[in-house]
Amino acid sequence: MRLLAIETSCDEMAAAVFVDGGLAANVIATQEIHRQYGGVVPELASRAHVKSILPVVQKALQIAGLQPEQIEALAVTYGPGLIGSLLVGVSFVKAMAAARRLPFVGINHLEGHLFSTNVHEDGPEPPFLSLIVSGGHTILVYVKAWGRYEVLGQTQDDAAGEAFDKVAKILGLTYPGGPAIEALARQGNANRLSFPVARLSEPFSFSFSGLKTAVLYHVRALTPEERSAQRADIAAAFQQALITALTKRTVEALHARPARALTLAGGVACNQSLRNAFKTVAAQHGVPLFFPEPIFCTDNAAMIGRAALFYLQSGERAALSLAPQPSLTLSSTR
Ligand code: KG4
Ligand code: ZN
Repeated sequence: MRLLAIETSCDEMAAAVFVDGGLAANVIATQEIHRQYGGVVPELASRAHVKSILPVVQKALQIAGLQPEQIEALAVTYGPGLIGSLLVGVSFVKAMAAARRLPFVGINHLEGHLFSTNVHEDGPEPPFLSLIVSGGHTILVYVKAWGRYEVLGQTQDDAAGEAFDKVAKILGLTYPGGPAIEALARQGNANRLSFPVARLSEPFSFSFSGLKTAVLYHVRALTPEERSAQRADIAAAFQQALITALTKRTVEALHARPARALTLAGGVACNQSLRNAFKTVAAQHGVPLFFPEPIFCTDNAAMIGRAALFYLQSGERAALSLAPQPSLTLSSTR
């Protein structure tokens, strides 16, 4: 089967092509326009998607060596995400499906992240535990089987990536903040300062807004000289506090569910210190650990295509009435 998958849920315009189950093209166009605003501006994101969707799809087809007529099935992210951004991808795929009478499926973006360790089919098989950490989500999921998910816990306020982005802004770093904080933290000492990790009564839940506020108050109280002297230590201590919160809850979940593996997905999964902390946790608990390749951590269409192949092979088809669902949750996927 020759499959074209599209992902436009936020600020990444992505298209992937699969041929006979193997990834033949994976194109991602990141919208640079949001950098100057320090975060994604929804209206600008959807307008940019309208402009880039055809060139990105054409490039993916060219890399795969295919003509548009050779595509046999389609897949698209239909939620959660920004309504305007989702509409561009969903409308494009529905129009192509209607014109060419092709089968297509709608994929939950979060489910796509769960498949991101399996793009090349060398990832774990359920049951496994996954922590999705991105700009919009921080979710601990027990994958009982593909398509059957138990959301154990999630963030009650900011997502982990959002916390990285906000703290980066406080420290005068550019968007997206995750890679910038990680680089700065490498030059700092995480033990010179300490920021609080929220203690939540709800099991497996996260909260990062208090941590962000603690960094803000700390920075505000400093003189400009102290600020520049402490910048790297602040980045390191913040990153350390966030990683401690993520690993602590993940360890609790490993004790609570019979997981055959542990996976880390989403943009924040690119973070090397987080990866190292998870390596330690996995080794201590004797579970195999899987990370997506960095290119499949941040938003991409290859993970959407892999999830779609699972559903298409199970005989599932979407109707042309498929509408974007900005607040789609994981348990309501199917
Ligand atoms: O998965 P993603 O591309 O988009 C969403 O679905 O949200 O994740 C983007 C997020 C941003 O908040 C970015 O700051 C964060 O992932 N990120 C990182 C790193 N690389 C990207 N956070 C920490 N360390 C990194 N190396
Ligand atoms: Zn994402």
